[in-house]
Amino acid sequence: MQRIILDVDTGLDDAVAIILAAGSEAIHLEGLVATAGNVGLERTLENTLNVCEVVGIVAPVFAGSSKPLKRERVHAGDFHGVSGLDGPVFQQRRHQQVQKGSGIQFIIDTIMNNPGEITLVPVGPLTDIALAMQQEPRIIRVVKQIVLMGGSFVGGNVTPEAEFNTYADPEAAQIVFSSGAPLVMFPLDCTTKVTLSPDALARYKTFGGESAKLFCSCMDTYMANYQKKGVGYPAMHDPLCIAYLIDPKPFTYERHGVSVELEDQATYGKTLRGKPCKEGGVLVAKGADTTHFWSLIDQALLALD
Ligand code: BDR
Ligand code: CA
Repeated sequence: MQRIILDVDTGLDDAVAIILAAGSEAIHLEGLVATAGNVGLERTLENTLNVCEVVGIVAPVFAGSSKPLKRERVHAGDFHGVSGLDGPVFQQRRHQQVQKGSGIQFIIDTIMNNPGEITLVPVGPLTDIALAMQQEPRIIRVVKQIVLMGGSFVGGNVTPEAEFNTYADPEAAQIVFSSGAPLVMFPLDCTTKVTLSPDALARYKTFGGESAKLFCSCMDTYMANYQKKGVGYPAMHDPLCIAYLIDPKPFTYERHGVSVELEDQATYGKTLRGKPCKEGGVLVAKGADTTHFWSLIDQALLALD
């Protein structure tokens, strides 16, 4: 059983990560922290609470950072819509409400109280994780691992060189990549290989059930926005981190150092490949088994509904 904290900027593909985590027996959600990213914190928090309510998550939801460490805010409304989660219409919530207290303190306390047990899964900008490391550096040695979506070594999706999560807070990303914590990275190199086809989406529409309906209404918007931008079919960036935790075998990897460009304005936020290594550094996912990934989504939706 993987005990995880999901740090999300919910987000259409973040919603899929939450659905996959909630519907998988291998995952135990200790809590979720919403951070600013795809849209502002107020909206990512609201979106996270709404998704948790629909899929029946009882784990606590906290608010994280409302802005990056240093740079000005950037958002990704092009892909996710004005609300960050355009598509689904949510009923008034009856169970989920935001917890009092800081999400960053929740991250620190949960890791420190459970040495070697907790995996952090940040799938938005790394602001909360960097702040937690700065406030309590011992978490770097005590966290089981950090499995993150971010970065790219094959070109960017927000600038020609930079991926959104690292571009949205490059200074935070540099703190995390240079921390020495055990890191697993899902960059665009891997995540753009797993996309949702129109046929697959049509099949999910036959599933019925509230979680499947939520998944399909999110993916309708995601598909439409990808088509509008002319960038192919929607990539399953964030849920791949959860798929890795369920079973790491279907992926291929390289291990090397990673740093983030902070000086050059043209390539600001780009992840830079460091020296290859046998241990330490960052375990970087390169390839994925698409069929296996979709079988996990099938199982999660069937289990939830
Ligand atoms: C990342 O950016 C966000 O828009 C997605 O949710 C994902 O986490 C992909 O670059
Ligand atoms: Ca995200």
